[in-house]
Amino acid sequence: MKSFNVTLKKVVDDSYDIDIGYGLEDRLINDLKNGLCCGYKRAAVISDSIVAPLYAEGICEKLSENGFSQKLFVFPEGEKSKTRRTKEQLEDDMLASGYRRDCFVIAVGGGVVTDISGFLAGTYGRGVPFVNYATTLLAAADASIGGKTAVDTPLATNLIGMFNQPKKVYIDLETWKTLPRRQLSSGLCETVKHAMMADKEFFEYLENNVEGVFEFDRTVCEHIAEKNCDIKYSVVMKDEREASLREILNLGHTVGRAIEVVSDYRLLHGEAVAIGLAAECILSESMGLMTGDEVKRSISLLNKCGLSTNIPDYIDRDILVEKLYTDKKVRDGKLRFIVQDGIGKVKQFGDSWAVGVKKSDIQKIIYDMK
Ligand code: GLY
Repeated sequence: MKSFNVTLKKVVDDSYDIDIGYGLEDRLINDLKNGLCCGYKRAAVISDSIVAPLYAEGICEKLSENGFSQKLFVFPEGEKSKTRRTKEQLEDDMLASGYRRDCFVIAVGGGVVTDISGFLAGTYGRGVPFVNYATTLLAAADASIGGKTAVDTPLATNLIGMFNQPKKVYIDLETWKTLPRRQLSSGLCETVKHAMMADKEFFEYLENNVEGVFEFDRTVCEHIAEKNCDIKYSVVMKDEREASLREILNLGHTVGRAIEVVSDYRLLHGEAVAIGLAAECILSESMGLMTGDEVKRSISLLNKCGLSTNIPDYIDRDILVEKLYTDKKVRDGKLRFIVQDGIGKVKQFGDSWAVGVKKSDIQKIIYDMK
């Protein structure tokens, strides 16, 4: 017998910049001209049916004017498009258009676009570079940063995907002006989540200033965008692959993700997570980790963001409880939750940030919620 050892030790530097500003298209083009994506000249611009005419077409024009070859690939907007089927369709279109390994991807849009594009870029030709141009508050707060990419399946969200870091992220606050109020509220949910888990002062800031987002108050929008990056990055830099600490970014998502699927995506991601955060606060209170007043404040901040924390009538609560078991934190068939230790802090349990919760305990909370 002969045995070989294939030594492949790697030192990888996946560091990248996030620019936050207004109208960042020219900056993107400039970065590309300066070699951001390996100096490649062929761009696949991926967007959805709403964002494409608003922002992606303009980026394509600028690419052409600056000597890049480009093509826009568009799919129907909405979470229901975040599937293997859409990824396959985009890949086939790119292949048919002659895209090979010397191309790069520009994702222009919200979380669905950045998630699917990042995943596609990670597997297309075994990996091509990509950048995220985030046009929603949700993408700015969460989806476009951190390198989680995925598609949904009929069973649950985000179960098929990969960690794949972009070359750069552009958070264009100008685009928030064209967001419907419902989308702004949905994006604010991840913002409130960040405050609840990591920053009491930011939580208080949101209590006092969050309306500013709906009025497009620049100071408020900038502060929120910066804080989201700060908080998310301090976690991702310590645990990129979610071995442990990154699980705290799942606050509110065990119930949130489940209810999003059970609602058949009638609830937007943030709307679903708002209900999940309320459930998690009540769970934290039942464990003696939050006071009734802290729970009330959390729910009223979510409400102030335009987010209801009530479970809609059309949700079957038994199905919802069963759906909790599709959560990625489940271990040995047991539910695990991230819980808070007051406002602005999550509770650590020994080496773990998630705690096992009995089905009957969370079932009771879900049955008792409005
Ligand atoms: N959205 C949670 C995370 O990025 O880990």
